[in-house]
Amino acid sequence: MLHFKTIIEPFRIKSVESVKFTHREDRETALAEAGHNVFRLRAEDVLIDLLTDSGTGAMSAAQWGAIMQGDESYAGSRSFFRFRDVVQDLTGFRHIIPTHQGRAAERILFHSLLEPGQVVPNNNHFDTTRANVEVEEAEARDLVIPEGRVPSQIHPFKGNIDLAALERTLDADGSRVPLVMVTVTNNTGGGQPVSLENLRGVRQLCDRYHKPFFLDACRFAENAYFIKKREQGQSGRSPKEIAREMFSLADGCTMSAKKDGLANIGGFLALNADALAERCRNLLILTEGFPTYGGLAGYDLEAVARGLEEVVEEPYLRYRIRSTEYLHERLVAAGVPVIRPAGGHAVYIDARALLPHVPPLSYPGIALANALYVEAGIRGVEIGTVMFGRQPDGTEKPGPMDLVRLAIPRRVYTQSHIDYVAEAVIGVAAMKNELRGYRITKAPAVLRHFTALFEPLPA
Ligand SMILES: Cc1ncc(COP(=O)(O)O)c(C=O)c1O
Repeated sequence: MLHFKTIIEPFRIKSVESVKFTHREDRETALAEAGHNVFRLRAEDVLIDLLTDSGTGAMSAAQWGAIMQGDESYAGSRSFFRFRDVVQDLTGFRHIIPTHQGRAAERILFHSLLEPGQVVPNNNHFDTTRANVEVEEAEARDLVIPEGRVPSQIHPFKGNIDLAALERTLDADGSRVPLVMVTVTNNTGGGQPVSLENLRGVRQLCDRYHKPFFLDACRFAENAYFIKKREQGQSGRSPKEIAREMFSLADGCTMSAKKDGLANIGGFLALNADALAERCRNLLILTEGFPTYGGLAGYDLEAVARGLEEVVEEPYLRYRIRSTEYLHERLVAAGVPVIRPAGGHAVYIDARALLPHVPPLSYPGIALANALYVEAGIRGVEIGTVMFGRQPDGTEKPGPMDLVRLAIPRRVYTQSHIDYVAEAVIGVAAMKNELRGYRITKAPAVLRHFTALFEPLPA
């Protein structure tokens, strides 16, 4: 019997979208016009868009078919019940509250739960999660294991929360902790997974200190697949069974269905506590909509419901995790410094290590992301000092790392696209001495990375 090493895309392509080829000078002009911030580019000026894996995936024929079945009734729509049943079957949570995307679930949860001066522990808060904690004048405390802070250090579950540090926080500041969160996979720390053992440890601590435990579950299926591949005793279980156990250890979750919901928009808040759910629903009505649509169209609820069924299929997850690993392997082989091992949804280049001549406060991540766009038309994103360096008091300090994330949209690019990306990154890395830092000329007070304007520093 033949054993194949090649892992192929577990789908065939039914509909295509052309990409636009541009010249280097055009990209230089476009970037300057965008204030040297790739978020401000027109997407059609990008050849391969790895800005995010959020909402950028390709939907299946079954999802498009389900969209035609959407029930657009304002209240009690059939599509809501289909959505609720799928989410409940997967997560086991009692209350399922649809939202237009993940940050809406975060805002509603935190605004219903947090008071000024409180502390939210997490392995690593994602930027919107941190911002939604801080806007309530609470502290977002990152407690990822020490290995998770060192890009080159290999660990199978580098997204784990440091249980000893969590215990210390609960001991010292317990009265100020209204909930504990864990992000699966840990996007900010490199798309790294969290083990079941670690989640069980969090559950035990939360039981001991009587704290609710919430998952930021955006990439729960990728996390479940890593558990299957890497955690002892898990290889015989299906990703869905593992995902169910992950959810069963928590009291609720926030979810952006733009990731492992395989949809272009959508999210939800799911939880068991009745009184809290009622407070959240009341807030939902104020800003998102009636509790059976939460800011989504009926057809969006259908797309998410079908997406949540497809995302736990093993051939999909095998291909998904392997394609990210493939790009990672090529960069490692060429000596490009990257977070190791490969994450689930993205490859993270260590711009601070690649560009030691660009100090963190001159934003090496911006220097690298901008060079990738100008040289190759590829759009990645800085996850570093611009994203995390601004302090609540308005001062600035280096972020924990300076990374450029190349996020892989789900089911969108083929292997030849990824080969081109590898060639481009290796080429730009070879010209590293020509890359210069930047300074910010204008920025808003929060979430500055989205809209800040930059200026290249003189050579
Ligand atoms: C870990 C994590 N949490 C929360 C969010 C927010 O989700 P959304 O973009 O749907 O608001 C994201 C989005 O990128 C994320 O990666």
